[in-house]
Amino acid sequence: MKITVLNGSPRKQNTAAMVDAFAEGAKAAGHEVEILQVGRMKIAGCLACEYCHGKGAGKCIQKDDMEKVMPAYMDCDMIVFASPIYYFDMTAQLSAAIQRVYAIGKPPKAKAAALLLSSASPNPFEGAIATYRTMAAFMGIEDKGIFTAAGDENQSEAKLAEIRDFAKAL
Ligand SMILES: Cc1cc2nc3c(=O)[nH]c(=O)nc-3n(C[C@H](O)[C@H](O)[C@H](O)COP(=O)(O)O)c2cc1C
Repeated sequence: MKITVLNGSPRKQNTAAMVDAFAEGAKAAGHEVEILQVGRMKIAGCLACEYCHGKGAGKCIQKDDMEKVMPAYMDCDMIVFASPIYYFDMTAQLSAAIQRVYAIGKPPKAKAAALLLSSASPNPFEGAIATYRTMAAFMGIEDKGIFTAAGDENQSEAKLAEIRDFAKAL
C-alpha cells in the first residue's frame, strides 16, 4: 500500500529516528513510503473562509506548502502522524496540516493510520493521542498503532526495533 508519513518535527533527531524506523520496516514489507517534512513547511491555519466548499471545489484559497501535502492525502492508503510533543500536543505545523484537510473533508482512500510521538518528559502524550483517536474515527480510518518515546527511550534500539517490527507486519 501507499503510506504517507507526516513528520511534524522541524529537526532531524528523535521523531525522525522513529519515522526512519517505521519507513525501514514498511519498505521491507513491500510498501511504498513517502515522508513529508511538515515540521519544516510553511502551512497556515485554516481561515474558515469556506472558499474550498464553494468556488474552490476542494481547493484551498491559501497558497502555501499545504499544496505539497494535499496530493498525498488524496492518494495514500495509510497515514502516519509523527510529532514531538510541544506543550502537550502535536506541533503547530502538523496540527495545521491536519486541520487543513477541511478542504476535502477527509482523505478519500486512507483506511489505516498510526501515531509516533516523542517527548522529553515521561507522559505528556494524552492530549495528542486523544486528538489522533477522535480524528481517525471521524475520518473513518482505523488506528493500527500508537508508539511513544519519552526521555531516554528516544533513539533507543529497543523502541526503534518495536516500530520497525510493527511496520514490517503491516
Ligand atoms: C517548543 C517545545 C515544546 C515542548 N514541550 C514539551 C512538553 O510539553 N512535554 C515534553 O515532555 N517535552 C516537550 N518538549 C521536548 C520535545 O518534545 C522533545 O525534546 C522531543 O524528543 C523532540 O523531538 P525532535 O527531536 O523530533 O524534535 C518540547 C520541545 C519544544 C521545542
